Amino acid sequence: MKKVLITGALGQIGSELTAHLRKIYGTDNVVPSGRRTPQGSKVVEEGLYELVDTENAQQIADTVKKYNIDTIIHLASMLSATGEANPAKAWNVNMGGLYNVLEVGREFGCAIFTPSSIAAFGPTSQKVKTPQEDIQRPTTMYGVTKVAGELLCDYYYKRFGLDTRGVRFPGLISYETLPGGGTTDYAVHIYYEALKHKKYASFIKAGTYMDMMYMPDALDSIVQLMEADPSKLIHRNAFNVTAMSFAPEHVAAEIKKHIPEFEIDYDVDPIRQAIAESWPDSLDDNAARLEWGWNPKYDLASMTVDMLAKLKEKQI
Ligand code: SER
Repeated sequence: MKKVLITGALGQIGSELTAHLRKIYGTDNVVPSGRRTPQGSKVVEEGLYELVDTENAQQIADTVKKYNIDTIIHLASMLSATGEANPAKAWNVNMGGLYNVLEVGREFGCAIFTPSSIAAFGPTSQKVKTPQEDIQRPTTMYGVTKVAGELLCDYYYKRFGLDTRGVRFPGLISYETLPGGGTTDYAVHIYYEALKHKKYASFIKAGTYMDMMYMPDALDSIVQLMEADPSKLIHRNAFNVTAMSFAPEHVAAEIKKHIPEFEIDYDVDPIRQAIAESWPDSLDDNAARLEWGWNPKYDLASMTVDMLAKLKEKQI
């Protein structure tokens, strides 16, 4: 990666990836982009920034040309719960945006990173330690777009030789920018509420396991995969990656070690609960470990220490 365009850079991953890549590759070599220009945003104000709506292929192409971009990290996407609220929009944003990015990538010869998700699996996939290659019949529109995206990226690699790469992210936990409308978001909200109100009503039931990862590991996975030796990559576009698997009561118990008064209760959202139950409890990420050295640093205990410290510093 030398000159990187990030789409969806104002989102949960993009806002932190922008700062991370600016540090590694230099501020002038990172071009974050989004559909708005919010005032006071570090993404917008601490370096280059472009307005790019990924449903507009011309805007992507103009930006790639303007900065001589060699890598596109395509993060603009709708998540699972908002996708169920508006499936037509989720299809248009997720598939239309990816198609445009791939076409521009083909025209200008860019490498492309696209995140897939645990949502690319469904109720007929193996539930525990879901293998790299397994049945993929998801039951959400978000999941449908993620499977189709994995296939489309494979197609562009095989048919046009485009350097497409990607991982299946689990729920991502972070303190900089809130996630926008996912099913795993409870595992972020719980930390904010623990500090603010010493209690949290989880919209996901006790006993519901999902895979999770702390944002610093997610950022490392993107850089590591994009810098990996391509001859070693057998599963280019959809590496299972994970760092931990837990249910709401486990993160609550971990928080309680630091905030003894903290209490969790449950106010279950049937839509997000059904989505969570359709996903794996945990993934097997051996292919990523073998093919490009994936090895996350944070587990639930170390993530909880860091999350609480960082949110306290932010004085949320
Ligand atoms: N975090 C995402 C969601 O919950 C999963 O990829 O929608």
